[in-house]
Amino acid sequence: MSLTRRLAFAVALAAPLAAAPAFAQTQLTVQHALPANSHTGVGATTFGSAFERLTNGRYKVVAQRNDNEREMVESVQIGTIDCTFTSTGPVGNFVPEVRIFDVPFLFRDATHARGVLDSEIGQQVLARFPARGLVGVVWLENGFRNMTNSRREINTPADLRGLKIRTMENQVHMRAFTTLGALPTPMAFSELIPALQQGTVDGQENPISVIVANNIFQVQRYFTMTRHVYSPQVMICNPQTVARLSAADRTLFYQAAREAQAANRARVTADDEAGVATLRQNGMTVVTEVDTAAFQAALAPAFAEWERTLDAGTLRRIRDWQ
Ligand code: PAF
Repeated sequence: MSLTRRLAFAVALAAPLAAAPAFAQTQLTVQHALPANSHTGVGATTFGSAFERLTNGRYKVVAQRNDNEREMVESVQIGTIDCTFTSTGPVGNFVPEVRIFDVPFLFRDATHARGVLDSEIGQQVLARFPARGLVGVVWLENGFRNMTNSRREINTPADLRGLKIRTMENQVHMRAFTTLGALPTPMAFSELIPALQQGTVDGQENPISVIVANNIFQVQRYFTMTRHVYSPQVMICNPQTVARLSAADRTLFYQAAREAQAANRARVTADDEAGVATLRQNGMTVVTEVDTAAFQAALAPAFAEWERTLDAGTLRRIRDWQ
């Protein structure tokens, strides 16, 4: 065979090989709430680009927005999507042990919360997911939740009385707001903005990162930095998605998840630092000095109930964590 024909033959053979990675690529779909340019979007897209990079493009990760977190967890459970990045809001309805992290005023600050979630305590709760047909991969976060409403400044627990407050579909949060004299109205985040616009609810509670990412200041006048509860986020995947990964790819998958965690937490820290100024610039009346001891005292009956209904030993370990 002449050199030219040999070259032509080699090129013909190489062409399908060069195209091969595109056909061998496995696609994973991950969903998250909020815009791509938010702390949740950053977590999901960082996971995607890290996993694609670490696997040299053998995997393609498609990130999609879905503001209904319960629906995302259900979709992961039945396998119509591979993974979700969700707050723990609805997760306690699937994995009840998660509820312990939803207790108000449990964590002193972000260092405390991140430390506990990354410790054996957080890992033990992740280990409960498989029994519910889910894999808990890694803890990320939304940050500390604060109050907004359209009626009045919230300075004391009494100011909350009678306010209709949208909460997540979360028993622990609803119990807290009932105890404070508010009227908790659980709904998916996807329904929140119309509910605020139409006055179906007076207020809502979310971390600064969420309020800014969703321009909630356009539909709410008053903000109080209650930091009443830390809001973890968790990456949850379908068990078969994880089982299908080779052992080596699973290591890379978890490495990508840890990169997502770092990017998400850095973004929440940055949002918290810049956020209050953004809220003021956008016309909100902002209360930053809050007597949180008064809110904790008002929650005493709920705390007593959670000591009975949640794992009191783990609650103590979390509070004592240094
Ligand atoms: O309020 C919620 O439902 C959650 O905090 C949100 C905004 C979906 C982010 O996880």
